[in-house]
Amino acid sequence: MNINKSLKLFEEAKKVIPSVTQTFSKGWTQYPLGTSPIFLERADKGHVWDVDGNEYIDWPMGLGPIILGHNYPTVNEAVSRQMRNGTAFSLPHVLELKLAKRLSEWFPYGEMSRFGKNGSDATAGAVRAARAYTGRELVLCSGYHGWQDWFIGTTTRSAGVPEAVRQLTKTFPYNDLKSLEILLEDNCSKIAAIIMEPIGVEFPVDGYLVGVKELAKKHGAVLIFDECWTGFRLDKKGAYGYFGVEPDMACFGKAIGNGYPISVITGRREIMSIFDKIFYSFTFGGETLSMAAAMAVMDCLETEPVFERIQENGTVLFDGIKNLIDKHDLDGNIRIKGYPARNVMEYSGDAHDGLLIKSVIQEMAIGRGILCGGYHVVTYSHTKEDVDKTLFAYDEIFKTISEQMRQGKLKELLKGKMVSAVFRKA
Ligand SMILES: Cc1ncc(COP(=O)(O)O)c(C=O)c1O
Repeated sequence: MNINKSLKLFEEAKKVIPSVTQTFSKGWTQYPLGTSPIFLERADKGHVWDVDGNEYIDWPMGLGPIILGHNYPTVNEAVSRQMRNGTAFSLPHVLELKLAKRLSEWFPYGEMSRFGKNGSDATAGAVRAARAYTGRELVLCSGYHGWQDWFIGTTTRSAGVPEAVRQLTKTFPYNDLKSLEILLEDNCSKIAAIIMEPIGVEFPVDGYLVGVKELAKKHGAVLIFDECWTGFRLDKKGAYGYFGVEPDMACFGKAIGNGYPISVITGRREIMSIFDKIFYSFTFGGETLSMAAAMAVMDCLETEPVFERIQENGTVLFDGIKNLIDKHDLDGNIRIKGYPARNVMEYSGDAHDGLLIKSVIQEMAIGRGILCGGYHVVTYSHTKEDVDKTLFAYDEIFKTISEQMRQGKLKELLKGKMVSAVFRKA
C-alpha cells in the first residue's frame, strides 16, 4: 500500500498545525505512523479514500457524527436547498423553531431546546444552566464530555485548566450507586448537576439509571444525560428511548446532523428557562445548513428502516468479532463491548501490551482496506459486504496475532510506530 503522499503532507503539516489534527482521536498518534494514512480526501457511504487514492471501509465514521452514511443524498439535498436560501441570518431563522418543536415531539422531557455546534457546547451549556438554576457550583460527571475546562480538568489532559476550576468537577464511577450517594452526601447541597453518559460501553445494571435519577432528585441536583454518542444510535430516541428514563436535560451532538455541525441541549421548561439569564450565545448557534441536515436526518429516521438495518449489521459485526476472539483464544487480551451501532474493542495485557495489540490490529486492518480505530460505528450505509469483509480480515489478523503472541513475538509484527493513548491511565 502506497501512503507516500500522506507522509509527505504530514511533514508539511507538522510545521503549520500543532498535533497535525483538529481532533485528538483522528491524529497521527492514534494509527501506526509509517504504515497508516494521515490524511483522507473523500468519503461516500461507508467508505473513505486517502490522499494516495487508497480505499477503506470506514469504521470510525468521523468519530460518530455520521449515522446515515457519508454523502447521504437526502441530507445533501436539504443542505443545498438551504444553502441557496441563506446560511447565517441576522435574526432567528424559522428552522430553529421547527427543530425545537420536533425535538419536543420526540422527547417528552425536551420541552425547550437550544442549539450549538459541538457536543462540548451542549455539555458546557447544560452545566452552566444547571449551576445557574440551582445556585450551586459543584458538578459530578461520569464519562467523556468534551474539551471545555469544566470537564477536561478532571482528566490527564488538564494542562491549562486553573486548579480552582478543576476543584469544581468530580468524577463518579459508572454502575456504582453507592459511590454516587457518598459523593452527594459528602457534598451536601453543593451539587448543581449530575452529568453522565447513560451508557458508555457498559450497560447499566438493573435499576442503576432510575437510582441515579432518584438520587439527583433527593439531593436537588439537575440530572443531565450526555447523549452525544447514544443519541439517535442506541435507540432511535437514544438512551431515553432504550431505557425509558427521563433526565432533566439531555445533550445531543454527533449523529443528529449526519456530519453537519450541530448539537442540542434539550430539557424541562422549568430548567431551560434559565437560558434567559445565562449567556449561551455564539455567531453560528442558529446556522441553518446544520439544522436543515438535522431535519433531514430525523425525516430519514422516521421513514426508513435506519435503526433496523444498523441493528442487523451491527449485531452480525459484534457477534462475529466476539466469536473470532473466542476462536483464536484471545479472550484474555481482547474484549468487545458496546451495542450494535457502536462497539469498542478493549485490549489488555499491561497497558503497553494492550496498545501493542491495538496497533497491530489497526495496522493489519489498514493493509486490508479497513480503517479501524479500535471501535466500529455502524451506519445505515454500511453493507453486509462491508461487515463480511471486515470479519474475514479479523479472522486472519486475530489468527496471526494469536500465533505470534504465543511465541512472544507480537512486537515483530508491527512495522509502524505504536499508537498511544489519548488519556494516560491515571
Ligand atoms: C459523550 C460525549 N460527550 C461530549 C462529547 C464532546 O463532543 P465534541 O467533540 O463534539 O465537542 C463527546 C465527543 O466525543 C462525547 O463522546
